[in-house]
Amino acid sequence: MPARIIDGAALAATLRTEIAAKVAAAGFTPVLAVVLVGEDPASRVYVRTKDRAAREAGIEARTISLPAETALADLLATIQALNDDPAVDGILVQLPLPRCIDPQAVIEAIDPAKDVDGFHPMNVGYLADGRPKVVPCTPLGVMKLLRAACVETAGARAVVLGRSAIVGRPMSRLLVTADATVTIAHSLTRDLPAECRRADILIAATGKPEMVRADWVKPGATVIDVGINRRPNGRLVGDVAYDECAAVAGAITPVPGGVGPMTVACLLENTLTAALSRRA
Ligand code: GUN
Repeated sequence: MPARIIDGAALAATLRTEIAAKVAAAGFTPVLAVVLVGEDPASRVYVRTKDRAAREAGIEARTISLPAETALADLLATIQALNDDPAVDGILVQLPLPRCIDPQAVIEAIDPAKDVDGFHPMNVGYLADGRPKVVPCTPLGVMKLLRAACVETAGARAVVLGRSAIVGRPMSRLLVTADATVTIAHSLTRDLPAECRRADILIAATGKPEMVRADWVKPGATVIDVGINRRPNGRLVGDVAYDECAAVAGAITPVPGGVGPMTVACLLENTLTAALSRRA
């Protein structure tokens, strides 16, 4: 039987409608500041998408575009000004930053209460401690997809493929908090296919196009594809070879239309949450 398709686009649309209603009821306009340094084409697309989604939800998006040569001190001064601006509820610095800028120094400069990415060490610490406050948007979106698709996490064996600070690490912590038995696998893991085949829930976040093949998937498993990669012919593909894995999995997210739209919706949710708690 072919896999059930987990429709992230539909769930994200529902979530965005709910957020827009809550924003309308809030009695003020939340403000999200998005800082983009340099000209990375993919980052520009992502920032435009976030900007449009915020506006549609009634959130004011302020995009601050800085040249690739911006000095770290100037970027930190920009962030300090946003920290100090009482009108600004959320701050997001689009990653990756140009190579000469230390991303950690930038992330640590953001006021943790305005850190809508959940990347500040204080928010990372709360999550690691099982007391999540601001949760990174992509893993948060994955948890919402699992919940909406009625995928049981308690007692399930989950394998997270990838150990990035943006996805893999926070994803694993959320799954542990949801009572899964979690393995983080990565490029140096011995026998990756065998490790993945043990998973009831397989989360692919490697950034390697169509890396996960049908024989990596346990029959009936839930496969969540975090990847967005563009093939030379322009086709968007995930980290999972979709057609062949859908023939084995019990449920699977498509690319596009799976995790991506949920990331954007969760950014809006984090912004609203930050705004409501700051202004309470
Ligand atoms: N680049 C890729 N994903 C993300 C994200 O979730 N947040 C930020 N700030 N940059 C990213």
